Amino acid sequence: MAKKLFIKTHGCQMNEYDSAKMFDLLEEKEDFEMAKTEEEADLLILNTCSIREKAQERVFHQIGRWRKIKDKNPNLKIAIGGCVASQEGEKIIKRAPAVDIVFGPQTLHKLPELYNEKENTNINQVDISFPKLEKFSHIPIRGTGEPSAFVSIIEGCNKYCSFCVVPKTRGHEVSRTIEDILNEISALADKGTREINLLGQNVNNFKGTYKGEKSSLAKLIELTAKIENIERIRYTTSHPHEFKDDLVEVYDRVPELVSHVHLPVQSGSDRVLKLMRRRYNVEKYLHLIEKIKSVRPDMSFSSDFIVGFPGETIEDFEGTMNIINEVKFDESFSFIYSPRPNTTASDMPDDVSQQEKKERLNILQNRLNQLSFGYSRKKVGTVQNCLVNGQSKRDPGQLQARTICNRIVNFSSNDIDLVGQMINIQINEALPNCLRGNLQN
Ligand code: SAH
Ligand code: F3S
Repeated sequence: MAKKLFIKTHGCQMNEYDSAKMFDLLEEKEDFEMAKTEEEADLLILNTCSIREKAQERVFHQIGRWRKIKDKNPNLKIAIGGCVASQEGEKIIKRAPAVDIVFGPQTLHKLPELYNEKENTNINQVDISFPKLEKFSHIPIRGTGEPSAFVSIIEGCNKYCSFCVVPKTRGHEVSRTIEDILNEISALADKGTREINLLGQNVNNFKGTYKGEKSSLAKLIELTAKIENIERIRYTTSHPHEFKDDLVEVYDRVPELVSHVHLPVQSGSDRVLKLMRRRYNVEKYLHLIEKIKSVRPDMSFSSDFIVGFPGETIEDFEGTMNIINEVKFDESFSFIYSPRPNTTASDMPDDVSQQEKKERLNILQNRLNQLSFGYSRKKVGTVQNCLVNGQSKRDPGQLQARTICNRIVNFSSNDIDLVGQMINIQINEALPNCLRGNLQN
């Protein structure tokens, strides 16, 4: 009988991508199938996130819950992967002895080996090394048929923003080859995928080779657009410092590249941006936005914001509110600064109270929500070209699609054959988290 696997994923899209690869690998090499519940699993995997302290705490709470299942089923194995695993290594097993296996984002391809070793020897397994891109030569490439899919193009990050733990947990930047990426995209397109989201912490520093020569994200986008059935291309996340002219120009040539970009600014204060080591200032950021808009006037921008960076003054915070009002960002993410181990910002003096930071976050999020709802309301009465992703979770009589700027649109239909198709939807209503509309013939 096939063994059963349950994977829980915390954190970013990169983790979601990695979790899907873990399943592909264990299914192919060890004949695992997906468990419906945690209780029926033989192997529980937690793919963790350590970007903020709260995310990290969730890991030990989850292990605590899984330990109770293991008490009833001693053959159950628990594996911890992702960024907390990479950061803490063996310490995870010391603190939580129910854990059998610890592996990092770059060693997930070793899971079958680590699992078998634990089964055969009963010795706990820890491998959080960084073997450069080895994982991609071990992971099966196959399409799953989902209308929209992630494809990892560059792993790790070299930027060392002063607040960020990623360069430590995911290692240095390494790009896959373009041929390898295009193989994966073609396999996805053959099975019905229509939208590709090229993934990396810093995609515009992609330097993968093409026919043996160093290439670029712009080239990769052009080649992706040539693959039959690929109708939409996104990428995330791009760093404002490395947004080169060839990438701006691609917007002119490749209609499949959507008119929406996630371009995290983090702060609107030059003083804070410098302390963050972001390598751009407000003027440069705004100039880049103008440059992109000159090629695609209908472009929309979303961002990440950190509120309450150590020593952030009220003037710094006002700078952030100003840039929000100037760019008029669409759906964005915002967080209170969270000190992370072994990052330079964690040693910076900070005289701003947590209460003050919460108030600033509140002001900022209210403004972002207002802007984003404004964009939604402007779509009422228009016709939007959307990719149908599946049935609505709440109501099976409704299908769910996404607009170019990635907004969810629900519309009434029982025609499941529409899933995976690009269709036109007349937008009738804007709700805080989605739009509603009717299928246009
Ligand atoms: N590579 C991306 C960011 C990856 S982390 C980039 O270049 O922007 C995702 C987001 O988490 C960041 O953009 C930042 O806004 C937030 N973040 C990272 N470290 C954080 C910390 N220590 N405290 C609060 N937010 C943080
Ligand atoms: Fe983190 Fe900055 Fe890299 S936010 S992921 S160190 S670009």
